[in-house]
Amino acid sequence: MSLIIHNTGMLVQTREDGALFTAGKEMAVLPVIENGWLLIEDGIIAGYGPAETMPGFSSAVAKLDAGGGYLFPAFCDPHTHLVYAGSREKEYTDKIRGLSYEEIAKRGGGILNSAKLLHETSEDELFRQSMERVNEIISFGTGAVEIKSGYGLTTEDELKMLRVIRRIKESSPLTVRSTFLGAHAVPAEYRHDRNGYVDLIVNEMIPAVAAERLADYIDVFCDRGFFTVEETARILEAGVRHGMRPKIHANELDYSGGIQTGVRYGALSVDHLEFTGDDEIAALLGSGTMPTLLPGAAFFLGMTDPPARKMINAGLPLAMASDYNPGSSPSGNMKLVVSLGCIRLRLLPEEAINAVTINAAYAMGLAETHGSITVGKKANLFITNKMPSYEFLPYAYGSNLVDTVLLNGEVVFSRQSAGGGPQQCWQ
Ligand code: NIG
Ligand code: FE
Repeated sequence: MSLIIHNTGMLVQTREDGALFTAGKEMAVLPVIENGWLLIEDGIIAGYGPAETMPGFSSAVAKLDAGGGYLFPAFCDPHTHLVYAGSREKEYTDKIRGLSYEEIAKRGGGILNSAKLLHETSEDELFRQSMERVNEIISFGTGAVEIKSGYGLTTEDELKMLRVIRRIKESSPLTVRSTFLGAHAVPAEYRHDRNGYVDLIVNEMIPAVAAERLADYIDVFCDRGFFTVEETARILEAGVRHGMRPKIHANELDYSGGIQTGVRYGALSVDHLEFTGDDEIAALLGSGTMPTLLPGAAFFLGMTDPPARKMINAGLPLAMASDYNPGSSPSGNMKLVVSLGCIRLRLLPEEAINAVTINAAYAMGLAETHGSITVGKKANLFITNKMPSYEFLPYAYGSNLVDTVLLNGEVVFSRQSAGGGPQQCWQ
């Protein structure tokens, strides 16, 4: 099956340079082709170029008129917790009244509150609630997503979450990567026996997760009040022994040593990084670990932003993710993340777009197949409304500009189909 997309205003993020990510000054370079066409064969990008090079195609090739809209590679979202039960807007109100994220957590709110809700929710119901979020992020232009466990905190409930992630992988057109995050918080019953909980993770949870091959990656919330560097090291070692590469939460609440620990264990990414200084930057340089920022979380919690400019100026790459979760970032809208990257982190639009496409693909182990318009990569793409420039995408921060989404070469969402109403097309 072949499809040609024509009459685009621009093809954005076209690369044949073999780059797996962009770093430092290169992050400000965003390759584009004006008025381009793109050919898809069997779900893969087979060719593209400027309008004057468009080949004459037979009637066997379906045509999709982009109407002057811009064609982007679908967003990659390399850090989410979108499998969760219920919601936590009461805590949101408590925060408005002045309680901090850590104070709410200490009172049994936060992650432990979500763990309680998840325990009371059946696997089928959890899948149903999560699929609503999956369909929502597809309509926002996301084509690949990493999803974590971490609201189970018992072996049984962690497995329940990871099985739901596997069902999402099997039943949606998204590319999904899964991460085991048993070390998201210490459950109340282990408050006076932290070692006991780490033992449970190492001796029972990790082997059980590995036996069912439920996780690609292992995560630990390595931060003040959550897991120490020593605890993190023990858990990562066990994960690595069972074939799970680290991809961890670090330095959201303090200079926790999490970044250095992640790098030491060969983490694919270290995420959050609000507290990043010269030592952390030195550890990351040349490490192969992708620093991943979650501007939606700092924005929603009203917390410190990471020093993104300083990190890029030092030569680092940066990825960005939504952190979609019920406590610190109840949104999976990656276009908004691009805007927040520009507005709050002072990224240039080119840097922000690189951070959510090619660099984000790297941060979830998909650099070879996702994150750019490249011949041979998966045809995961979105078409925008007509726009004057690509800078308009982050600039128009409240407008939904994503019009049509194609995953695996097929239209899975269109705002213009069927009588003008939004349509999910893939079920
Ligand atoms: O990435 N920082 C730790 N975990 C999540 C928040 C989880 C929650 O509050 O439910 C995060 O922000
Ligand atoms: Fe997170």
